[in-house]
Amino acid sequence: MDTKRIFVTRKIPEAGLRRLQEYFDMEVSPFDRNLTPAEIIDMAAGAQGMVSIVTDRIDREVIDRLTDIKIIANYAVGFDNIDIEYARQKGISVTNTPDVLTQATADIAIGLILCVARRIIEGDKLVRRGEFKGFYPMFFLGVELENKTLGIYGMGRIGQVVAKKALRFGLKVIYHDKILHDEDSLGFPARYVSFEDLLRESDFISLHASLTPETYHRFTKEEFRKMKNGVYCINTARGPLVKEEDLVRALKEGWIAGAGLDVYEFEPKVHPDLITLDNVVLLPHIGSATIEVRERMCMVVADDLIAFFRGESPPNKVN
Ligand code: GLV
Repeated sequence: MDTKRIFVTRKIPEAGLRRLQEYFDMEVSPFDRNLTPAEIIDMAAGAQGMVSIVTDRIDREVIDRLTDIKIIANYAVGFDNIDIEYARQKGISVTNTPDVLTQATADIAIGLILCVARRIIEGDKLVRRGEFKGFYPMFFLGVELENKTLGIYGMGRIGQVVAKKALRFGLKVIYHDKILHDEDSLGFPARYVSFEDLLRESDFISLHASLTPETYHRFTKEEFRKMKNGVYCINTARGPLVKEEDLVRALKEGWIAGAGLDVYEFEPKVHPDLITLDNVVLLPHIGSATIEVRERMCMVVADDLIAFFRGESPPNKVN
């Protein structure tokens, strides 16, 4: 094939850059920051392929201006940052990076469950403040995971791995999804419940749905009010699944016991009140942030671009 030009919107691990360089005339944004839509349009001019990241908003306006681009390989499993339907209409393929980050993201969800249930981060802060005065029976009590119910919203790849890991901690798993999976195909015990029952029965609710118009603000004050007393909410999926100001109210007024968050509605902004609350653990969107995963994501992106320019259908095409 003749050498195609690929624009990469932000530095990715060296292994990926080297692989892309073997096949393409590759240019990486020289800035160590996220690009504005105008910068993407400007820098991607003349490129036939692009590697984008989740913070790049690729909407209709940007797509209209990317006149040479034939494929956008999103360096993420989620692709709500791209108008994939409009891209399809314009003949642009969009791909993502599923599977390689499933275990790592599930680990962060389990980590958040443990942190909120056993007050791990809160305890660390207390010790650092010099406030640890010694063990006593009523000190710093959390809740046990054994025999509690974990409600999974969105039983896709990541939800399923969270469920399997949670079962090893003695949690029982219920889930709500647009698809009813039978237990044989899941390969582990998990009971399908209605959305209302998920809210009512769960001691922990963990979100693993993708962000779509249907899932946007799926969790608002109405849902938080229906949840069981003492529930903990975990979000490692996408911030806008939750109306953040309602979550803050639910936490402040004690409708829910706590929250573990890796994503935010207005990322990278975090609601200022969340920062003041002790019963909340806040992570900076690091679900897939391991050396191994980020390298594997590079290979997936490169393989999709290579397949596409060979005239094959890229394995991870989402539109
Ligand atoms: C990260 O948020 C991803 O979707 O991979």
